[in-house]
Amino acid sequence: MRLMFRILIGMASAVLLAMPLSAQMPGFGTNDDIAFGDALWRALEQDNLVGDDAIMSRPYEGSQPHGNKLVTLEADVTVNGQRNEVIIKHNYGGEGATIEAVSDNPSQYLMATTVMFRRAGFDADNKDWFWAKYLPDGSYDKAPNGNALVGKGPGCIACHTAAPGEDMVFLNNRY
Ligand code: HEC
Repeated sequence: MRLMFRILIGMASAVLLAMPLSAQMPGFGTNDDIAFGDALWRALEQDNLVGDDAIMSRPYEGSQPHGNKLVTLEADVTVNGQRNEVIIKHNYGGEGATIEAVSDNPSQYLMATTVMFRRAGFDADNKDWFWAKYLPDGSYDKAPNGNALVGKGPGCIACHTAAPGEDMVFLNNRY
């Protein structure tokens, strides 16, 4: 009897461990996240922070998972009436993506745009960052389980927790 009980407990924990990350983290890639992420993309477009005419600066050498060449922009944007801090990282790559080539023709090498927006009251445990990984057309990249990468990105948070300064930001400690 006892053995049976142990086996059952063992099976139950194996199932829990095998659950996809998103099932343990409600609030990732939900309809609300997608609606807010769409509004965020429009705000970035309006302020020329994404899109063909986006503000550009010289790319620097990147590392995984963010790509081969990177451009990082920091600004304030208004999303659904809320003006707050945003960090935009354009990820460039592909064959021939040298710093010169990307500088000359950014749209040709753009692979993805990862964004952190400070959304008041969204996720107090993680500095209220709202995370998104957009493809160049403003749609979302997908997590391995098929969820849109927008909202409380569990993968993003797991890695960015290690950033110095306890603000989840690697490049500086201004936040
Ligand atoms: C395995 C670790 C890792 C994961 C996962 C990760 N990042 Fe990052 N991220 C970094 C590192 C390291 C940097 C600094 C890289 C640089 O620009 O030189 C960075 C930089 C950034 C920046 C610029 C601000 C900063 O922290 O310096 C943004 C915005 C960003 N990441 C968004 C995201 C989003 C959105 C996701 C999830 C879809 C994500 N990241 C997943 C490691 C990670």
